[in-house]
Amino acid sequence: NGKVKIGLMGLGTVGTGVVRLVESFQEDLFKQTGSSLEISRILIKNPDKKRSIYVHPDKLTTNPDDLIYDDEIEVVIEVMGGIEPARTYILEAFENGKHVVTANKDLLAAHGDELLRKAAEKGCDLFYEASVAGGIPILKTVVEGFSSDRITQIMGIVNGTTNYILTKMTQEGLPFEQVLREAQELGYAEPDPTSDVEGLDAARKMAILATLGFHVGMKWDDVACKGISEVTQEDIRYGKQLGYTMKLIGIAKRDDDCVEVSVEPTFVANSHPIANVNDVFNAVYVYGEAVGETMFYGPGAGELPTATAVLSDLVTVVKNSKLGINGREMAFPYHEKRLKSPEQ
Ligand code: NDP
Ligand code: HSE
Repeated sequence: NGKVKIGLMGLGTVGTGVVRLVESFQEDLFKQTGSSLEISRILIKNPDKKRSIYVHPDKLTTNPDDLIYDDEIEVVIEVMGGIEPARTYILEAFENGKHVVTANKDLLAAHGDELLRKAAEKGCDLFYEASVAGGIPILKTVVEGFSSDRITQIMGIVNGTTNYILTKMTQEGLPFEQVLREAQELGYAEPDPTSDVEGLDAARKMAILATLGFHVGMKWDDVACKGISEVTQEDIRYGKQLGYTMKLIGIAKRDDDCVEVSVEPTFVANSHPIANVNDVFNAVYVYGEAVGETMFYGPGAGELPTATAVLSDLVTVVKNSKLGINGREMAFPYHEKRLKSPEQ
């Protein structure tokens, strides 16, 4: 009961969405958690930046200790991005008994095992639904929805920026650079869009999906990865003439003792539903040995869709807290046992 105080690290695209949703969904959040949720401090880098929402100036700080060492803050939401200082701040937050929700796939795909170990040691939750496929609740689905099946393959479009670029290049013949700028203005791209364009962002997401789906430790550099920077209008036109659409496709497959994960530009037959997944939308196919083929579709990036994923984790943390099971029921466990990749 009562109030749950939250420290928010980052007030960019996703952070702004989180503030908006916590304010506008206050009543629904209360109904679900029995608590009113308050973002009491917000960590930013540049105090002079013009913001698209009003936040009381007393809430803003450039000092991470104002969140990490505030005894009243129970949950830290990290939406700054990047490996450092995000990794250090999250580890310090666990040391101080705080639960963490993050959207940071760079961090998870490189240090997920370390972070989850520390969280468990300190009895804290760590959830990261927003790190993969924006507004599609795909991590909960893979972990909980498929708990009674054996996933054999996960395949799909998991980067909104590159799908937006390829869509505009294909449908409107627009040049790569112009469409990339649009994706940046819309808040879809990473702070350094090279991660999107070179396929690294998709590789990180596929590593997280493979880790959770196959119960093995996969990191981003285990993924064979090629982006779309070399895709030309000519390639796209050539595919079109033959009835194919260019998409950046991630595939994670396993057999008994081997896991293979890749991301690459792929010609998809126009008759396949994934050829018609356009703009910032993502689609993830999950194949279960018993269920067969399933498909999940939705916005893969952007302010509010991503904020919904962050908030759903926040609700879980607060509910876990009521039940006294934080850090024990790890909904998204990271697996340290590594399977061989085919060439090993
Ligand atoms: P932005 O660049 O829009 O925002 C980053 C925010 O973090 C800014 O408010 C910035 O402060 C703050 N920040 C960055 N570094 C520091 C630092 N060292 N100390 C204090 N504050 C810092 O990023 P996004 O909101 O787009 O992305 C945030 C995270 O969410 C990333 O991990 C990204 O991969 C992930 N994500 C993003 C999605 C999207 O659609 N954009 C979708 C899914 C996940 P200031 O404002 O002062 O510059
Ligand atoms: N830059 C990422 C994308 C954000 O475009 O998919 C969502 O993770």
